[in-house]
Amino acid sequence: MMIKPHRGQPLWIAFLLHRISGLGLAIFLPFHFYLLGLALEQSETMDGLLRWSDYPLVKFAEFGLVFLLAVHMFGGLRLLALEFLPWNDRQKTLAAAAVALSFLLALGFLMRAV
Ligand code: HEM
Repeated sequence: MMIKPHRGQPLWIAFLLHRISGLGLAIFLPFHFYLLGLALEQSETMDGLLRWSDYPLVKFAEFGLVFLLAVHMFGGLRLLALEFLPWNDRQKTLAAAAVALSFLLALGFLMRAV
């Protein structure tokens, strides 16, 4: 029997998305803490950066960030459920639901932000 290549399968793509979103969030977090830290000693620099965050392109990047956070959270909850709850056959559906829900959430954020 031929074993199907796993790369490109929907749940492999879900794994890749989880890894990319996890790494993306880990890279973003130090910059985020740095910006928050500016409030203590360089509030003008912080105000400048907050004004910069009003640009539409930056808002769009924030949409991407909200999507990454949501998809990592919902995807992570699916993985934890897979680990600790009784087996569920609908893993592809759950992964697709995690992506759809994350997209809706990020879109909601974008619509409020513009
Ligand atoms: C929001 C709640 C979160 C949940 C429910 C969650 C859940 C998980 C789970 C279950 C894993 C293990 C995946 C596996 O076994 O293959 C994981 C991996 C990981 N998480 Fe999270 N996580 C969350 C937030 C975050 C945040 C905020 C960051 C970064 C700042 C982050 C970064 C990572 C990274 C880098 C990995 C390793 C990915 C890999 O090796 O493929 N996570 N997360």
